[in-house]
Amino acid sequence: MKLAAGNWKMNGLGSNLGEVQRLIAAIGDPKCQVLICPPATLIDRMSILALDTPLHVGGQDCHAKTSGAHTGDVSAAMLANAGASYVIVGHSERRADHGETDAIVLAKTQAVLAEGLIAIVCVGETEAQRDAGDTLAVVGAQLAGSLPNGCTADTVVVAYEPVWAIGTGRTPTLEQIAEVHAFMRAELAARFGGAPMTLLYGGSVKPSNAEEIFALPNVDGALVGGAALKAADFAPIVAALSATV
Ligand code: PGA
Repeated sequence: MKLAAGNWKMNGLGSNLGEVQRLIAAIGDPKCQVLICPPATLIDRMSILALDTPLHVGGQDCHAKTSGAHTGDVSAAMLANAGASYVIVGHSERRADHGETDAIVLAKTQAVLAEGLIAIVCVGETEAQRDAGDTLAVVGAQLAGSLPNGCTADTVVVAYEPVWAIGTGRTPTLEQIAEVHAFMRAELAARFGGAPMTLLYGGSVKPSNAEEIFALPNVDGALVGGAALKAADFAPIVAALSATV
């Protein structure tokens, strides 16, 4: 499965839902999956707009528990109830801003899977870790620690997002992306077997670089931040991925 996923992060009010209508009109009938993960406040409304269209709606994070005394948190069950079919977990901004460890990400992934939703599990090295030559070790440890046993291609998507490429306009070389994706493919095959999981690249993906990134082996799509906020930017990225199917 190929997937073009947009992460709106902490951006978006009701007045921005027109972008979603423009996106739905622009993507037509794509050959890949298309997903927008808006702030939790917009999932319900966006899901109504996306009914009977190719657009899927997802959450950006969830709590590991289903319900309880956790002020300000949202559970996977609540996201599903609001219309989400995917949930991003372990984004580097969650890992950095909220101290989320691999163990926490693993528990959240289990919560997502327990609700029958698809988890998009994010991994990626910092610039210091890349400079130290530790990229594959870091990504390998995050995969090992963040993914519960029993993950399958139907339930889990993995996103490689180098922290230093997120929101910076900088991207790794195509060789660097291909190297990490080949490594992840081998690690996941060795642990889980079965059909190959969808592997996304994320970090400063935009219309001008999407095609060359999607042409790389073991890259099955993208997790897009800034360029997912406007239909005029995200629709060409969807089209570039759809053209590879
Ligand atoms: P960006 O964000 O596309 O704005 O770099 C990507 C992400 O954080 O998923």
